[in-house]
Amino acid sequence: MSTAKTKNTVATFAAMKAEGRPISMLTCYDYTTACLIEQSAVNAILVGDSLGNVMLGYPDTLAVTVDDMITFGTAVVRGVKNTLVVVDMPFMSYQVSVEEAVRNAGRILKETHCTAVKLEGGRSAAPAISRIVAAGIPVMGHIGMTPQSVMQFGGFKVQGRGDAAERVYQDALAVQEAGAFSVVLECVPAALAAEITKALKIPTIGIGAGAGCDGQVLVTQDMLGQYGDYAPRFVRRFADIGSAMREAFDAYDAAVKNRTFPAQKESFS
Ligand code: KIV
Repeated sequence: MSTAKTKNTVATFAAMKAEGRPISMLTCYDYTTACLIEQSAVNAILVGDSLGNVMLGYPDTLAVTVDDMITFGTAVVRGVKNTLVVVDMPFMSYQVSVEEAVRNAGRILKETHCTAVKLEGGRSAAPAISRIVAAGIPVMGHIGMTPQSVMQFGGFKVQGRGDAAERVYQDALAVQEAGAFSVVLECVPAALAAEITKALKIPTIGIGAGAGCDGQVLVTQDMLGQYGDYAPRFVRRFADIGSAMREAFDAYDAAVKNRTFPAQKESFS
């Protein structure tokens, strides 16, 4: 177990970028895992709308609601003290109007007690980002391959190759200009991500965006090998918890069926 970490805030993110210290972030959706991440040196948790995939079994994130984010976000916040928690704004909770965006961001912050919200989009999301920030709510941007636009992209595809690089670059500048405290770069070429990271004052957090970002984020279930055989190129498996769980389930099943569980020491007299 790591030694106790100090409080991570949006100011910590800025200081880490200024000092060239990489920022680590993982997704998390439940209290038990949040407690374990709190005990690690990881700086930040993202309660991502990827919970639609890994917790709710949807094929994408589109069906996730603000209420879902609040339920899972609240559980995570209960498990942490010094880990910065960012909660995703789900699809259609900020796109209709800036008023709705501010109302939903406020609800998420008030009800979960998280530190910040994240929303997808570059120039198109800038008005919502700037109004949410003006309301005193820190915002993390998210550009490149933004999963809520999967239908528009025609699949989960790398964004920003060739001529499209300029669009992603301008999106990054717009998110910074709108007042975001950091920005996720998802599935963009490593060279472009490094160039954006150099150009921005705010930290970039990469996922599938190479080593030139200020920090990295992964979906916890992916890096623990818990989410089936899903293994995109950018995921590294740091453990094989999925196999360990399957073995434990089979060992339990066998012990029940051969009547070795429960033993006397696991029973009351
Ligand atoms: O929802 C999520 O987990 C995310 C990360 C992939 C960045 O947005």
